[in-house]
Amino acid sequence: MPEKNFYITTPIYYPSGKPHMGHAYSSIIADVFARFKKIDGYKAYFLTGTDEHGLKIQREAKKNNKDPKKFCDELSITFKNLTKTLNLSNNDFIRTTEKRHYDSVKEIWERLEKSGDIYLGKYSGWYSVSDEAYYDEEEIIDENGSKKSKTSGSKVEWVEEESYFFKLSAWSNKLLKFYQENPKFILPVSRRNEVVNFVKKGLKDLSVSRTSFSWGIPVPSNKKHIIYVWLDALTNYISALKFPDTENKLYRDFWPADLHIIGKDILRFHAIYWPAFLLAAKIKPPKRVYGHGWILSDEKKMSKSLGNILDPLEIIKDYGVDQLRYYLIKEVSLGNDGSISLENLKNCINNDLANNFGNLCQRVFSFIDKNCDSKIPSPDKFNTRDKELSDEIIKKISDLKYMIDNQELNSYIKEVINFSFNSNKYFNDLEPWKLKKTNKVRMNTVLYCILNQIKSISILLYPIIPSSIEKIFDTLNLKKEELNIEQIKNLNLIVPGKIIKKSNILFKKIDNDN
Ligand code: ME8
Ligand code: MG
Repeated sequence: MPEKNFYITTPIYYPSGKPHMGHAYSSIIADVFARFKKIDGYKAYFLTGTDEHGLKIQREAKKNNKDPKKFCDELSITFKNLTKTLNLSNNDFIRTTEKRHYDSVKEIWERLEKSGDIYLGKYSGWYSVSDEAYYDEEEIIDENGSKKSKTSGSKVEWVEEESYFFKLSAWSNKLLKFYQENPKFILPVSRRNEVVNFVKKGLKDLSVSRTSFSWGIPVPSNKKHIIYVWLDALTNYISALKFPDTENKLYRDFWPADLHIIGKDILRFHAIYWPAFLLAAKIKPPKRVYGHGWILSDEKKMSKSLGNILDPLEIIKDYGVDQLRYYLIKEVSLGNDGSISLENLKNCINNDLANNFGNLCQRVFSFIDKNCDSKIPSPDKFNTRDKELSDEIIKKISDLKYMIDNQELNSYIKEVINFSFNSNKYFNDLEPWKLKKTNKVRMNTVLYCILNQIKSISILLYPIIPSSIEKIFDTLNLKKEELNIEQIKNLNLIVPGKIIKKSNILFKKIDNDN
């Protein structure tokens, strides 16, 4: 069998302040896909990190009276800690201040120069430091004398200086052809249409260096120029695979990337600039860019300047990391903006985790503890109802894989939680507590079937709530290696006679006044 590889990335974060819910959201989504692939027989590589250059960071460091490198060293650790707190399964954490990244950016730049895609000129126009983005006149609004980007609302300043340009204008048609040949390169479809319409209007050449500040990677042939932070940052996705060494195993196994997860605010960089840079440098573009929506609070984008922040670290401390992961994946519709609130979080924890899946596990484990000497009961023949129950999941496996491959996370989680609902119903309908007195053989079969369901649902929930599922696997005396999509079809994984360990409540119910 050929190796199945899967390379997935999150955006690398600006280490300019405290991590917020948007960061957590991008990361958790990517982790769900990475973990699913890892338990579906893929060799998956998952990358995240920090984006440390540019004027934004330089100014932020100055505000804090710190040397930019020292400032980044400190804040990068904060983001690395976030990956632990969110329980991400990332294989690497890249910093754009590392040598490996410098080497990679230098090579990209030289390739672009060599192919004739870069020329020296003068830039005059609007620049947003907060977005690290250039804007055209028609993308700007004037709000009481202060100029802002229409889309992001961030302040822009006028820039006039010598600059190298990337001949983006020459790539419009080639990009349109690329989008046409790769209809799923940009998802969701609404985002794809947005990008295609934008490119159809024709692209202007892109300023890719600056001379008015110093914090970044110098242009190899002209050190007074600093490479545009987005050309620098995007390259991280291949630096981590040891580009320019394209013969090494990491690069050969994982490039082109299967999936870049990003927020919709950085779509233009990933869906237009990035493939254009790569095509010009004769490197294959990634297979897919998925732009998720924004996390809103009271219908507004959650942001520091608006002061409407739900702090992911506080929520994790109060409610648990799996609870937050589950909530964000279940309640925010992946391609769209979604409002979140504490109230909804609590309802979601109670309805889906405590009352539905948690309850299923708890009632079955404690029933077996009390009535079967804590041992997995031995089943008799399965009847139609029993078979229907397990078939329901087995028949859906390929649909579920399709959903994951098409980033339909909300449909995925709905299916899975519905399996849990149906398993609870099976338990209620078949009333093992009555069978205990009338038909012990049947009782054992029912319990066995339901344990098998718990196993299967656990495997499917693992990408979303990994640490809770690891606990369930431990309770069931199952091995970590058995946490695999293939094992859903294995009706013998649950072995009669094995002990079910004592377990604590998985998901505490939350009082409303809490
Ligand atoms: O953009 N809701 O970094 P960043 C959802 N360094 N997602 C949000 C969000 C919100 N309210 N706010 C931010 C950068 N995000 C660059 C990336 S990649 C080569 C360089 C998401 O720290 C945002 O869309 O500003 C982006 O995907 C991620 O958080 C990092 O944002
Ligand atoms: Mg941002």
